[in-house]
Amino acid sequence: MTQQTIPAHGGTLIQRIMTPEMRTEYQARVDKLKCIAIDERTASDLEMIAIGGFSPLVGFMNEADYGSVVEQMHLQNGLAWSIPITLSVAQEVADRLHIGETIGLQDSQGRLLGILNLEEKYTYDARKEAEHVYRTTDEAHPGVNVVYNQGPVNLSGPVWLVERHPHPLFGTYQLDPTESRARFLSLGWKTVVGFQTRNPVHRAHEYIQKCALEIVDGLFLHPLVGATKSDDIPADVRMRCYEVLLENYFPKNRVVLAINPAAMRYAGPREAIFHALVRKNYGCTHFIVGRDHAGVGDYYGTYEAQEIFDEFEPEELGIVPMKFEHAFYCLKTQSMATEKTSPSSPAERVHLSGTKVRELLRRGETPPPEFSRPEVAQILINAMREQANV
Ligand code: ADX
Repeated sequence: MTQQTIPAHGGTLIQRIMTPEMRTEYQARVDKLKCIAIDERTASDLEMIAIGGFSPLVGFMNEADYGSVVEQMHLQNGLAWSIPITLSVAQEVADRLHIGETIGLQDSQGRLLGILNLEEKYTYDARKEAEHVYRTTDEAHPGVNVVYNQGPVNLSGPVWLVERHPHPLFGTYQLDPTESRARFLSLGWKTVVGFQTRNPVHRAHEYIQKCALEIVDGLFLHPLVGATKSDDIPADVRMRCYEVLLENYFPKNRVVLAINPAAMRYAGPREAIFHALVRKNYGCTHFIVGRDHAGVGDYYGTYEAQEIFDEFEPEELGIVPMKFEHAFYCLKTQSMATEKTSPSSPAERVHLSGTKVRELLRRGETPPPEFSRPEVAQILINAMREQANV
């Protein structure tokens, strides 16, 4: 029997990358296309749709899907989906575009990234989106802030990606869902756990990754390298941290490291569902959800991103969440642990917040070895120094 990977969300892995013939045709008539500039987040959404990471989406959401996702965490066709994927523009931009037109999507340098077949234009209630999706209307929330500052009209319709460009910094770690699926097959993995991350890897991450690896065949490390908030550590530095970690602390044949080109929303629980569905599209059967997954500040409870999985039937998600409690270094047993496994009192636990680590690094101080592997800490310190010298 041929081994199979798990189906994409909705059953079909979407592919919206232009064939060479299509590309030639569009490039020949590019000066006749009406074009709009899209921001970094929209460009990464376009890429994620095109490579199938956002299957079953074939384009930016129409009003019906948008409303149903915002209010009910499902697409109109009943499939689970928790984050709106929209292309928002200013009113004057929307006014010069007509339904049925093909619109060129350009980056800030005028490069043609993709096209949109415009099917619908609609206004939306940004405050309502914030309330439902981000569970706060506070404009200080980085995800809400994006929603409040984007244009008031959403454009919808199917898209095509014009051309695939290797990510300048991460060429060798660029694996599309078709490729990650093929890789897992070739490694003979039947069960694969996906790991989302936007922070430099620390020992609590490593601990939950390894706990998960005790259960499943392989680990898919999938750091997010799309837009993040300005004080997050840059993606290239985070990737270097992973390289030294894998070199020194993991078995060679049990881990695949690849980039997730998506942008961060910081939507906590809603984003945890979204992150899991995206990793299912990459071929994962399991997905790690730890403490305050995709959270920021104090907007979400420590385990809200785990609890939200109970609002869905397991089969409608089709990927198994592996939930981990807050992990720390236990001084009493001298090992990583959680409250489930450690006899320590709070004073005997080493755990640092991301903010605390950034403060240490900024002062040129090394995070303790109980928190960070020394090779990883060194990379972070060097990166901070380089940044300070620029
Ligand atoms: S996130 O925004 O991508 O969630 P981060 O990179 O810090 O941020 O977290 C990656 C994953 O590790 C998430 O599932 C998160 O819940 C989990 N995690 C981070 N720190 C801990 C910790 N100390 N204990 C348990 N899980 C953790």
